[in-house]
Amino acid sequence: MLRKNKITAFLIILLLIVILISIESFASEKKTKQLEPLPPPPVPKDNPISKEKIDLGKKLFFDRRLSGDGTTSCANCHDPEKAFTDASEISLSYPTTRNFRNAPTLMNVAYAKYLFWDGRAKTLEEQAEFPVMSPFEMNQNIDFVEEEIRIVPEYREAFKRIFGQDVNIKLIAKAIAAFERTLISNNAPIDGYLKGDKNSLSSEAKKGLEIFIGKGKCIECHYGAYLSDQKFHALMVPENPKYANEEKFIVTRRYIAKINKYPDYMNIKEDLGRYFNTKQKRDYRAFKTPTLREIAKTSPYMHNGIFKSLDEVIDFFNKGGGYGNKLLKPMNLTDEEKKALKTFLVEALSGADLNIKPAEVP
Ligand code: HEC
Ligand code: HEC
Repeated sequence: MLRKNKITAFLIILLLIVILISIESFASEKKTKQLEPLPPPPVPKDNPISKEKIDLGKKLFFDRRLSGDGTTSCANCHDPEKAFTDASEISLSYPTTRNFRNAPTLMNVAYAKYLFWDGRAKTLEEQAEFPVMSPFEMNQNIDFVEEEIRIVPEYREAFKRIFGQDVNIKLIAKAIAAFERTLISNNAPIDGYLKGDKNSLSSEAKKGLEIFIGKGKCIECHYGAYLSDQKFHALMVPENPKYANEEKFIVTRRYIAKINKYPDYMNIKEDLGRYFNTKQKRDYRAFKTPTLREIAKTSPYMHNGIFKSLDEVIDFFNKGGGYGNKLLKPMNLTDEEKKALKTFLVEALSGADLNIKPAEVP
């Protein structure tokens, strides 16, 4: 009898523990899905920021020597006048070639855990080498660009002073990354609001925020300071029909599939996104959740620029996403709710202009 009571008591306690743990984890999941004001940007230990390094990185960012034919700098496709995008559906490209994705903004990129729509780079230092080498972006040879930078006395001295070393591609990337870490939204109304100034949002924007968190379920994926879960999802955004038959676009997509060892690359008709990198089924046509900060300034939208306006994006989500997706459901927002949501995106998430002027390149 006593034994039986002991077992029952034990089972009840076990049950209570299980319930407590699940409430706890549910609550912490809830807690992570909140908007937060921007903290200072994380800086890696092996690339501390200094004023001099930022200045050097800025010069390199605007320097067309980084491209094979000397026509293109990072700023061509990430133009400060266009919120560090190129405002094109499919990004600009190395002459005679065609890019195949939309150029994301570099605003607040310091907070990104994965870079590129498919997340193939994890640090800004690692990322910066990709466009330089890419045949359809800057098409430059790494050994060659090192010599082109090294022969400029001003650059050579700056690298010696800042890094205590001669020019090399890793240091070029470090300097550019330091500059990119300064591209941070300045005083966006949402930050004031989240820090307690309830007047920093208009009543329309506050309504939009409620929809963002509530009926619209945007917070499911766009949360935290960066307004992104830093994960990948297959919303089944349609292919951009404008490029379906464009030869140079098809060449680039085949090339990407081929270098990622996709067996049937000759017949590829879609951008498979993160699947190219991981070959995991769950990543099929999945793309990174982009930040929504500065979203008013970065149209067109999505990895292929298919939507020209935020209205089109909101309609896409309202309809339940793209054909065949398993993540989104139609949500029947009224016209008023859609308008409020848009007001929130436009008003609350835009910071003051950073006013970055092109650097004087030595
Ligand atoms: C010819 C246009 C072009 C040039 C030049 C270019 N980029 Fe990009 N950039 C893009 C495109 C397009 C993407 C998205 C590609 C993808 O996701 O596959 C991108 C992505 C990025 C990202 C990732 C952003 C994110 O949120 O994931 C960073 C960072 C970046 N570029 C920095 C640079 C730097 C630094 C340079 C110069 C060394 C540069 N880019 C040159 C077009 C360009
Ligand atoms: C299931 C996760 C998920 C939910 C829920 C979600 N998003 Fe997104 N959002 C994404 C992903 C992933 C992309 C990029 C898709 C692509 O390019 O293929 C995206 C792209 C966007 C873009 C375009 C950004 C750019 O720079 O091109 C906007 C704007 C946007 N979402 C707003 C919203 C709004 C508003 C809601 C709520 C109505 C919402 N999202 C709900 C994951 C989500």
